[in-house]
Amino acid sequence: MSERHLGEDHSVVTADVAATEFADESAPIELPLDADGVVVLDYGGQYSQLIARRVRECGVFSELLPHHVGAEEVARRAPKGLILSGGPASVYSPDAPKLEPGLLELGIPVLGICYGMQLIAADLGGRVESAPVGEYGRSQLTVHEQGILFAGLPEEQPCWMSHRDTVYEAPPGFAALASSTQSPVAAFESRERGIYGIQFHPEVVHTPYGQDVLKRFLRDVCGCAMDWSAAGIVEEQIARIRAQVGNGKVICGLSGGVDSSVAALLVHRAIGDQLTCVFVDHGMMRKNEGAQVVETFRDHFKVPLVAVDAEDRFLTRLKGVTEPEQKRKIIGAEFIRVFEEEAEKLGNANFLVQGTLYSDVIESGGGTGASTIKSHHNVGGLPDDLKFELVEPLRALFKDEVRAVGTEIGLPERMVWRQPFPGPGLAIRIVGGEATKERLDLLRDADHILQDEIRNAGLYRDLWQSFCVLPDVRTVGVQGDERTYGYVVVIRAVTSDDAMTADWARLPYDLLEQIASRMINELREVNRVVLDITSKPPGTIEWE
Ligand code: XMP
Repeated sequence: MSERHLGEDHSVVTADVAATEFADESAPIELPLDADGVVVLDYGGQYSQLIARRVRECGVFSELLPHHVGAEEVARRAPKGLILSGGPASVYSPDAPKLEPGLLELGIPVLGICYGMQLIAADLGGRVESAPVGEYGRSQLTVHEQGILFAGLPEEQPCWMSHRDTVYEAPPGFAALASSTQSPVAAFESRERGIYGIQFHPEVVHTPYGQDVLKRFLRDVCGCAMDWSAAGIVEEQIARIRAQVGNGKVICGLSGGVDSSVAALLVHRAIGDQLTCVFVDHGMMRKNEGAQVVETFRDHFKVPLVAVDAEDRFLTRLKGVTEPEQKRKIIGAEFIRVFEEEAEKLGNANFLVQGTLYSDVIESGGGTGASTIKSHHNVGGLPDDLKFELVEPLRALFKDEVRAVGTEIGLPERMVWRQPFPGPGLAIRIVGGEATKERLDLLRDADHILQDEIRNAGLYRDLWQSFCVLPDVRTVGVQGDERTYGYVVVIRAVTSDDAMTADWARLPYDLLEQIASRMINELREVNRVVLDITSKPPGTIEWE
């Protein structure tokens, strides 16, 4: 495999999207677990990453590890506590992930969530069986005994469940704390052994007291100080970067996306002008985007920046190309060529900054079998033979935490909150047709109107993405008593948490009307505007 991982939002795209894998799949996933951190073991649950994020939102650093790492690996990190996540398996199925020996004897508190709770129950002599009916979605929790986890919380509370196997009896010596509609034992604890279990999902928003339960575990059981924050680690990261880089020369491919922008700025804070950023404008960016990157980094932050206007090169390569994967390949390959040329000109750089996020780290080896690695077409690739040592200052952070760091170090709000934008840019939004300069300009203008209206309506941050698509078709219209034959612009706006699934955004009708009328009035070539109301699945977010 010859690709290297560049992180979401990076303007690079892999040559072969479907075949994208990580060069460093065997790279250590260990993070600096600070003195107060906890380990979350991932049993393949849909919400495992979310558990790790929620723990951090409580002010406790967390590391998510695959369930099979074993007790020694966990112990080596000296965490203050251990959380076992949910998972899709039944504890009795022969290939179900097992509770590795020794995990309950590490001398640190353990909290099992859903499958994690069932594993504990089955291991310690409780009774877990498949229930005649499953319990999926909203349920009602009745707390019979508060214990530590429910101290001060209401006796009746809504909670979110997702299980068929059910704990019928807590292990000997454990107190059953709560039940729910379908779960005779929905929570248990043994203070003596420091082992706790909850059947419901505290990490999802549909469990309103979930964060409180987690806090009680982290603060009152594990004794965590609860003072970790992403913004608070800026100084520590700066020190790390300095230690890694020394007097070396560093380059960074900057796309204007959140990840590469925050990474570049952090590195610049650490080592100043030892860093040079390379921004390749492939001509497929949105309106004014290139200028904004240059203005922010070179003019405002005084970061040494090479801005390459490569529009002509890319357009020449894309002549006559209509097939989406072909477009991706050409843009990816050309990007690498331009980047290599610039790196060469800069001479002897030894380090390359990448905006790798913690979710990328997890998905490239930290995850478990069940949570299949998503298709990494957000990921860009530079060839291995560029021979750089990687500087990845965001490797421990989730996206929302990267935004917090960006805000902390003064990155403009507009960049901190930028919606994701695909590496191949507008080229893959000219659907079924060649990405010509004329069409790109038209799409850029349409997109600009859309963004403008969405920002004015105060909706920009609520949407995962909002953009226009320009299919290579024309339709008949009538304007000022004349027949027209013009382009159709498609509005695509979606809400999502992670791009794996998405829903079409219910934009207000008045806003849609305003957008459509501006596009048709201001853009001569457009005579029709339509709205895409497809969720993902079955649709993808992008059209190509
Ligand atoms: P889809 O269209 O698969 O997109 O639902 C999911 C997310 O990935 C982005 N995307 C890309 N990002 N290079 C990228 O860097 C690409 O080739 C690419 N294709 C899709 C898309 O914008 C969405 O956020």
